[in-house]
Amino acid sequence: MTRFARITGTGSCLPPRRLSNADMVEMLARRDVETSDEWIVARTGIQARHFVDDGVFSSDLALQASRQAIAAAGLEPDAIDLIIVATSTPDMVFPSTAALLQHKLGIAGCPAFDVQAVCSGFIYALTVADAMVRTDAAHKALVVGAEVFSRILDFNDRTTCVLFGDGAGAVVVEASDTPGILATDIHADGKHSGILCVPGHVAGGQILGDPLLKMDGQAVFKLAVGVLEDTALASLSKAGKTAADIDWLIPHQANIRIMQGTARKLKLPMDKVVVTVNEHGNTSAASIPLALDAAVRDGRIKPGHTLLLEGVGGGFTWGSVLLTY
Ligand code: UT7
Repeated sequence: MTRFARITGTGSCLPPRRLSNADMVEMLARRDVETSDEWIVARTGIQARHFVDDGVFSSDLALQASRQAIAAAGLEPDAIDLIIVATSTPDMVFPSTAALLQHKLGIAGCPAFDVQAVCSGFIYALTVADAMVRTDAAHKALVVGAEVFSRILDFNDRTTCVLFGDGAGAVVVEASDTPGILATDIHADGKHSGILCVPGHVAGGQILGDPLLKMDGQAVFKLAVGVLEDTALASLSKAGKTAADIDWLIPHQANIRIMQGTARKLKLPMDKVVVTVNEHGNTSAASIPLALDAAVRDGRIKPGHTLLLEGVGGGFTWGSVLLTY
């Protein structure tokens, strides 16, 4: 019998501190950095984002999201036999945020590791979990995207600091006789590493280089629109489906204009696209599972629906997962 991997529970966590665009305008004005609600909304669709308080880490947000996802799957934490966390803002250089999350969940022994593919991280992590579950290496996997991007933002750079937020989303992926994840498609092209990066590193007890986010927004925008269409079509083709079969498109939440462009290319109306960028900003690897959980919990996504998840980000990385929910 064919063995599939299926999402059986979702969860999410946003830190309580919500900053509207007006709050950002005020915060940046104290640094003599000028921005406006009009610019941010018109160029990105973002109206607000959430930031963690001091002392809160990716593993803390991951823990809340994971507990919700595990409960939604009708499981207890000790049933989980694989943990993969997608993050570019880990609690520490090592150990992995996944190992820290495992301990916070009160479990031990199962494999736990991080995946680093920036805003495509959740797509990469789900792809790895799918492969491990289908090949019997795991039965009940916890897949998480968790980020505290507020820690790596340059609040003197208005072209980036208004775009990002913090949060976490999680899913439980279980072995199943029925599909499940139908197709996955992931890619990277390291020649574009410079257009979205945090170039600093730790050496000799010091941070060397700049540890804050740098982005050439226009270069990322142009690449993103093309590869998101390519990967969507690739996953659909692998599963023998077309865009008309998609009930919900759940794209990485970076910019409403990118989502509109992708929907247009796939000939999907915007009411089939789950949009949370307005309230979450860009939460990198957390954005797709956060959006997925929002649409599951408000009842838009129903069992049997066909979902296309897709992401793009630093690396340059991109990819998609097509699944039956
Ligand atoms: O998560 C990974 C994927 N990331 C993305 O997909 C991000 C992709 N890129 C984008 O979403 C867009 O390129 C941005 C939202 C980052 C920027 O939008 P844009 O339409 O490409 O604007 P721009 O960079 O061309 O800037 C236009 C103007 C500039 O002024 P001048 O040179 O025309 O006078 C900027 O200085 O807007 C100015 N500007 C701002 N003004 C007010 C840039 N940032 C701001 C700001 N507030 N925060």
